[in-house]
Amino acid sequence: MRDIDLRRITHVVLSGAGISAESGIATFRDAGGLWEGHRPEDVANFHTWQQNYSLMHRFYSERRAQLPTVAPNAAHHAIARLGDRVLNLTQNVDDLFERAGAQNVVHLHGDLSGLRCHACDHSWHIGAAAWDPASPCPACGRANRVKPTVVFFHEEAPLYAWLRFVTLLTAEDTFLVVGTSGAVLDINALAAACTAGRKVLINAERSDWIDDRLFDEVHYAPASVAVPQALGL
Ligand code: APR
Repeated sequence: MRDIDLRRITHVVLSGAGISAESGIATFRDAGGLWEGHRPEDVANFHTWQQNYSLMHRFYSERRAQLPTVAPNAAHHAIARLGDRVLNLTQNVDDLFERAGAQNVVHLHGDLSGLRCHACDHSWHIGAAAWDPASPCPACGRANRVKPTVVFFHEEAPLYAWLRFVTLLTAEDTFLVVGTSGAVLDINALAAACTAGRKVLINAERSDWIDDRLFDEVHYAPASVAVPQALGL
């Protein structure tokens, strides 16, 4: 990942699937979401992914195939207009921030277009292409060992270390949480520990996992409307 000049950061944005919803990418836990019809523990479980190998690759190949059909929305573009002043932490594995020209994007849960062989550690990108589960690793030839570079449940998430930056913000800085239910990341703990003078929550609706009293500003509204308004961009 390119070097990030942390001295320039005035905004930390932490986003989830909701910021991509208006671009046409389903969220995980809303009605009709990605997990409907799939059990996360069957599809994205680091302990059992090789037992559900074809289902797992079908799930991620379908999501990859959607990428060329969607585009960034006004929320992605507003955050991109922050330039190098934003530390852009996203749980999303799509490339919409990059396509909006956003800088300092940190994919906390990995990247949908990457693959890695868990036998020889070879990794490569396939863009929006499908991965045929019958294909062996192109480097070592082993079968059944290729996994998307998406962080699965029970898998280590090394980039979570970036979350600690919310405790280094000043009274003039902004912490914006947008489009996440808080089902996986402890948003309450982050908001409570955050030192920013302005803490903003934007979600389509209230989440049982997030105590919105921990935020100075709360907008239950579509991200494409509320993010440009909140950032004044
Ligand atoms: N604008 C703003 N928020 C929205 C919109 C929208 N248009 N549409 C949906 N939302 C909100 C929902 O209200 C919900 O709170 O986005 C949130 C989506 O929550 P989830 O589906 O749980 O997605 P997310 O929080 O990103 O999930 C976190 O869980 O399944 C794992 O690894 C996966 O990164 C994912 C993690």
